[in-house]
Amino acid sequence: MSRAQSAILLVGGFGTRLQPLTLKTPKPMLSVAGIPFTQHQIVKARDAGIQEIVLATSYLAEIFEPYFGDGSRFGIKIRYAVEEVALGTGGAIGNAANMLHEDGPVVIFNGDVLSSHDLKGQINFHAENKADISLYLTEVEDARAYGAVEMSGVNITSFNEKMENPPTNIINAGCYIFNREIISTIPQGEVISVERQTFPQALASGKKLCGFVDRSYWLDIGTPVALLKATSDLISGVATSVAYDELLASGAYKKKGTALIATSAKVSDSALVGNGSIVGEAARVGDGAKISHSIIGDGAQIGDRADLESSFIAQNALFPAGSIAKGQFFGF
Ligand code: GTP
Repeated sequence: MSRAQSAILLVGGFGTRLQPLTLKTPKPMLSVAGIPFTQHQIVKARDAGIQEIVLATSYLAEIFEPYFGDGSRFGIKIRYAVEEVALGTGGAIGNAANMLHEDGPVVIFNGDVLSSHDLKGQINFHAENKADISLYLTEVEDARAYGAVEMSGVNITSFNEKMENPPTNIINAGCYIFNREIISTIPQGEVISVERQTFPQALASGKKLCGFVDRSYWLDIGTPVALLKATSDLISGVATSVAYDELLASGAYKKKGTALIATSAKVSDSALVGNGSIVGEAARVGDGAKISHSIIGDGAQIGDRADLESSFIAQNALFPAGSIAKGQFFGF
């Protein structure tokens, strides 16, 4: 069986749990460690040998293309499938697949998972097991909010989507590989959930669904707390990303202690910035300011003696001198 060279990135959700951050910016375009989250996934795909990727967009679809263009800047071909009405995760896959040029299996990414999982290993695993669908699985302490699976050897035997008493702690970690025949069974133009419809239906019709269990770093970035954690984990090295390494190598950002500061930002020598914080491009941080575990958007200005903890400051916002924010969103 041929190895996957194509991918679809699901980036069309509303990101309601991240409001107000997602009112003007779709979740996958929110900054994580200095670059849009999607960039971490695109570079990961390229590094695993993927040559073309279709972004399945819907909510705020127009925000993606001006940044990613045709993908040449990232060494991969990028195209955009737009759903006028969001088609759900399964409908999005059926729609986006029409824009792929290469044949062979397709890697599908949820657009909100930061992981160190071995994607190349999963691509090989899919081919070697002659799977119809293979899913990257991970283990969590509490599987209630996720889709838990049961397995026999490498074969998945049941799906249990978001339930009170999941039978296992092994969950769908949001990266799957589909053979083309499976994608062609997804009805066009209908709202379909891959988790609730496509997977269970494929299993019921006797298809081979295999689980690739990888317990390395995994994080669903879908809440504000998780988004802050993603940035601080990348800065501290708990999580890894080739795109982040490339950003540091470009010189656009520098690590300073436990913070990441844009080279074009101006931070007072008497300010304390740390604990997984990031100061965006051309931002300013005044004298005596304290910034912990917070994201300062590009062009934002933080006044003297301001005190920020676990907070988000919007691009170009002016946060007044002497003000305090704990767990807040400012300027969105
Ligand atoms: P919440 O509203 O906070 O749950 O976030 P979300 O809208 O992103 O939903 P969820 O986390 O369940 O979505 C998982 C992934 O699928 C995300 O990357 C979404 O962008 C994507 N997604 C969800 N629904 C659709 C859809 O209808 N179309 C497309 N193209 N992508 C979708």
